[in-house]
Amino acid sequence: MARTALVTGGSRGIGAAISKALKDEGYTVAATYAGNDEKAAAFTEETGIKTYKWNVADYEESKAGIAKVEEEVGPIDVVVANAGITRDAPFHKMTPEQWKEVVDTNLTGVFNTIHPIWPGMRERGFGRVIVISSINGQKGQFAQTNYAATKAGDLGIIKSLAQEGAAKGITANAVCPGYIATEMVMAVPEKVREAIIGQIPVGRLGEPEEIARCVTFLASDDAGFINGSTISANGGQYFA
Ligand code: CAA
Repeated sequence: MARTALVTGGSRGIGAAISKALKDEGYTVAATYAGNDEKAAAFTEETGIKTYKWNVADYEESKAGIAKVEEEVGPIDVVVANAGITRDAPFHKMTPEQWKEVVDTNLTGVFNTIHPIWPGMRERGFGRVIVISSINGQKGQFAQTNYAATKAGDLGIIKSLAQEGAAKGITANAVCPGYIATEMVMAVPEKVREAIIGQIPVGRLGEPEEIARCVTFLASDDAGFINGSTISANGGQYFA
């Protein structure tokens, strides 16, 4: 029977590419989204991938949403915690709200996504946990104390889960994308973006599909010996 995969933030950007790639590999995929009903409906129409709306920052919403997915689609074998936001500001201008929103979504949201799925993976003796971190969690980034802290924290989560899940057939790994051609990166002021591209040895932004291929590999049986690892896909911008 086809394995089931859940991708948070799975109807846009890198998440959409991941959802599609997993579907192409034969997984039954459910994708979550936070707010944009219209885009989610268009995504379902285009791909046939079911979408579910909840806020990953809210534990009870996540738990209820995951229960619904498991009821409708089946027990989740592969979870890709991809949903993330930016609220960039130099530290001296960063507000407590900007800090909290990013922590709630990018860090606590990862806990809220994996925690309700984890007991079932343990019982069934199989699981693939994949977190989409970031190059900026590895190297830090001007105007991203909040985002960098959460993405570094996500690496702490997978390294700990890798130890806890190993005996139960569960692996936990991360992908650290560099700057990828998505709405998130396109929102960076053009001059700043051009300067960033100048720091990428391959001379271009990455494509969402290049991240999706890392995820399908980590989800596969072939990756069973890879646990607690990070795949950096950043065009050579930073070696970690
Ligand atoms: N390094 C050093 N100095 C920098 C800098 C950098 N990377 N970026 C900006 N500065 C400087 C500017 O030159 C300017 O200096 P002056 O005051 O001396 O002119 C100052 O910092 C910026 O001050 P502003 O008042 O203009 O800053 P602002 O409040 O308007 O904020 C910004 C602007 C939010 C920093 C904007 O430049 C920005 O968005 N930068 C990009 C940040 C970034 O890379 N975010 C990543 C988004 S993509 C992502 O997160 C996905 C992923 O995982 C990779």
